[in-house]
Amino acid sequence: MTIVRADYVMRMNEGFEIVSDGAVAFEERIRAVGPVNAVRDEYPDAEFVDAGENSVLLPGLVNPHVHLEFSANTTKLAYGDFITWLKSVIRHRESLSGACKEICMKKVLDGMLRSGTTTIGTVSSYGLDMKPCVHSKMRVVYFNEVLGSNPAMVDALYTDFLGRLEESKSWASEGFVPAISVHSPYSTHPVLAKKALEIAREEGMVVSTHFMESQAEREWLDHGTGDFAAFFEEFMPGTRPVNDPLAFLKLFEGVPTLFTHAVHATDDELKLMQEIGAITHCPVSNRLLGNGRLPIEHVKRLTIGTDGLSSNISLSLWDEMRAALMMHVYGPLDLLARRLLVAATREGARALERNSGEIELFRDADLIAVTLPDGVERTEDLPLQLLLHAKEAKLVYVGGEAV
Ligand code: BEZ
Ligand code: FE2
Repeated sequence: MTIVRADYVMRMNEGFEIVSDGAVAFEERIRAVGPVNAVRDEYPDAEFVDAGENSVLLPGLVNPHVHLEFSANTTKLAYGDFITWLKSVIRHRESLSGACKEICMKKVLDGMLRSGTTTIGTVSSYGLDMKPCVHSKMRVVYFNEVLGSNPAMVDALYTDFLGRLEESKSWASEGFVPAISVHSPYSTHPVLAKKALEIAREEGMVVSTHFMESQAEREWLDHGTGDFAAFFEEFMPGTRPVNDPLAFLKLFEGVPTLFTHAVHATDDELKLMQEIGAITHCPVSNRLLGNGRLPIEHVKRLTIGTDGLSSNISLSLWDEMRAALMMHVYGPLDLLARRLLVAATREGARALERNSGEIELFRDADLIAVTLPDGVERTEDLPLQLLLHAKEAKLVYVGGEAV
């Protein structure tokens, strides 16, 4: 048994409880939470760790949408416009995915863990990131991606996807959860999507998909026009949209799904997505690719992700939350900070079907402690100040183990 004390224990539960001079007792799972003296009385023999002055203890952060295979990118890809970016990805994908191999990816994963992320949902296009993810101390939900709109290619692409999925299943453990990603309605033939989703349904897997990221995607799927029409004319002449947006979403019914971006989704689409699963907001990616702003005031089941370094400069959720704080200018600032912290902990864990994301009895002991540069005057200022100042975690526990 371990007890960690902190100046503040931010439980991230429904009531947004914050315990001053609080502590959490845990083994693999959380066994007690409350004022430090009460917790120590309950477990007098536990190893005692004090997170120190100006410390905040909270659940480890959950980043449900990242791509690790493009981690070599810093300056190569073109930002500002989605289709321009997509073309630059196609130009550079081989050199980029070859330039960050296992040692590089391990460093990237270790960096995320140090920042305080204890669970990721990562989308894998090629399976190149499988080993580093299997061996990481972070918990990984590993989304094997299926993609391809050309009907002539469906069988070959499905076979390749199945091979990666089966390999990931052979590594399944507490910390490595095989899952499925259907790339997007503009890039994935419905036959391919249906076959993959049937597996997810049968095997109880969570699923990730991109949906309505750009205005170009909206126009293409609604009318077969816009920037995507020119894109497909160049790369796959004769292509027509393969999915109707609402029909595409209905394919996911009954499967817990994370819908990423949704910037250009209609109210009906937002409603349906949140009946099926949750929305993942990637504000920096949306900004850099010229996609605009997700109206989070219309979203209830909000999670927040970084996307990959192909469309971001950081895989830290603290940086991502700070960007979101600056992007969404409506409503009270303190409530937005709370909401973003909930998205980055409890809602992310719920969407990925993890037993973490809040400090409650019997939840997994995935916990982090962060040190603020100074104290706060009022406890209610804590969420905003934490979000403004947090960079690295001082303590990180995954399943009760210090990492
Ligand atoms: C496709 O295979 O249809 C596709 C791949 C990437 C972007 C767009 C379409
Ligand atoms: Fe993505």
